[in-house]
Amino acid sequence: TDIQKIRVSLLGWYGLNFRDLPWRVAEDDVEKRAYRVWVSEVMLQQTRVQTVIDYFNRWMHKWPTLLHLSQASIEEVNEMWAGLGYYRRARYLLEGAKMIVAEGGQFPKTVSSLRKVPGIGDYTAGAIASIAFKEAVPVVDGNVVRVIARLKAISTNPKDSSTVKKFWKLAAQLVDPSNPGDFNQGLMELGATICTPLSPSCSACPVSNQCRALSISRHHSSVVVTNY
Ligand code: ADE
Repeated sequence: TDIQKIRVSLLGWYGLNFRDLPWRVAEDDVEKRAYRVWVSEVMLQQTRVQTVIDYFNRWMHKWPTLLHLSQASIEEVNEMWAGLGYYRRARYLLEGAKMIVAEGGQFPKTVSSLRKVPGIGDYTAGAIASIAFKEAVPVVDGNVVRVIARLKAISTNPKDSSTVKKFWKLAAQLVDPSNPGDFNQGLMELGATICTPLSPSCSACPVSNQCRALSISRHHSSVVVTNY
């Protein structure tokens, strides 16, 4: 089916083309893995990858584990965050670390339990659960909305909240149950590098054969593909 082809092609492409980022180094310790995914995904929410790399490395040098972070002060955390903006994100990381440590220090391992940590919303919970713990759950950000909208030729107002809900549903059907973390990162990476808002590189896209927007644009020589 199309879903199978999309999964296989996207995972193959991601395996060859993923950017070698510091939070993607193989980490056997699941607790450390979850902590690193959490910090990186929170940093990435409003900040570009290139900027995040240095902040992430400095952060991990100072607080290599959740336990280290839980013993930091808000002043230290804010100082570390200086320049990233949206300081509430840093405060939530500290509060979340304190809460998890107070409850035994084991990272929550499912979306529903992760959602109970202060500051962890649907996006962060999905990212941690799928990337660190291999739970077959979706992750939807702006890039993912655009990729799926094009694959299925759904024209949409991305700011409409019912639209966002619809894309979480679609992403949940699409996510590869055997490797949800790489699949989700592959969708985000595809949206960031190939399936870009303006002039996407469809000739380099691993799922162009499954893309309805591209197929329609071929039939109509229109601008449908850029219209997301
Ligand atoms: N943007 C935010 N998080 C990402 C991730 N894990 N992979 C690719 N792009 C991202």
